[in-house]
Amino acid sequence: MLRESEARDRAAFIELFASPEVGAYIGGPRPRDELERAVPEVPGRRPGLFVVDLDGAMIGMITLDRRDAERPGHVRPDAGEAELGYLFLPEAWGCGYAAEACAAALGWFAGALPGEPVVLCTQTANDRAMRLAAKLGFNEVERFEEYGAEQWFGLRSSVTPCITLLYGPEGSVIFDHPV
Ligand SMILES: CC(C)(COP(=O)(O)OP(=O)(O)OC[C@H]1O[C@@H](n2cnc3c(N)ncnc32)[C@H](O)[C@@H]1OP(=O)(O)O)[C@@H](O)C(=O)NCCC(=O)NCCS
Repeated sequence: MLRESEARDRAAFIELFASPEVGAYIGGPRPRDELERAVPEVPGRRPGLFVVDLDGAMIGMITLDRRDAERPGHVRPDAGEAELGYLFLPEAWGCGYAAEACAAALGWFAGALPGEPVVLCTQTANDRAMRLAAKLGFNEVERFEEYGAEQWFGLRSSVTPCITLLYGPEGSVIFDHPV
């Protein structure tokens, strides 16, 4: 089940961000004592953040945020694409829960904003995240170096794209044709 966060999720949020396995490809774990001080009473209560609940307990979270225009990887000239993120507790890995929950979130998003593209970025070394992206229907747009690692940037369109855009160095469109 997808729901908004509640106070009872606080320990699971701390566990997610303190876990070395979860943090392996996203900048590393954060110190637990720092999290205990910094995490608010009701963490993650904001638009675009979904808690994944299994039998009444949080097992992970999904985010749909606007991609930062300053970062590399865009499919719209004005940037700000919806970007999917997923973090699950290691004990919930390997069961298909992330795939099921992300598919539900993407289905909801496609209904709310029909035709709006969704992008995703992950390190190519992050095998599980890469397999999940493929399963969810994301296709590679480009790869680039960021944070000292190779990143995979993918796009999932809820409609068949009718044009292909290729951006040049300054963000200029250098290729634009009907598929
Ligand atoms: C990325 C992440 C969410 C993937 O989780 P996951 O559990 O591997 O993903 P899925 O839900 O797709 O589950 C897939 C696995 O469940 C298995 N599975 C078992 N029962 C299943 C079922 N009934 N239905 C579907 N899959 C099932 C699949 O065989 C697959 O196993 P495999 O990967 O060994 O082949 C998780 O590894 C994670 O949170 N990583 C840390 C955070 C992170 O790096 N996020 C990405 C940042 S961009």
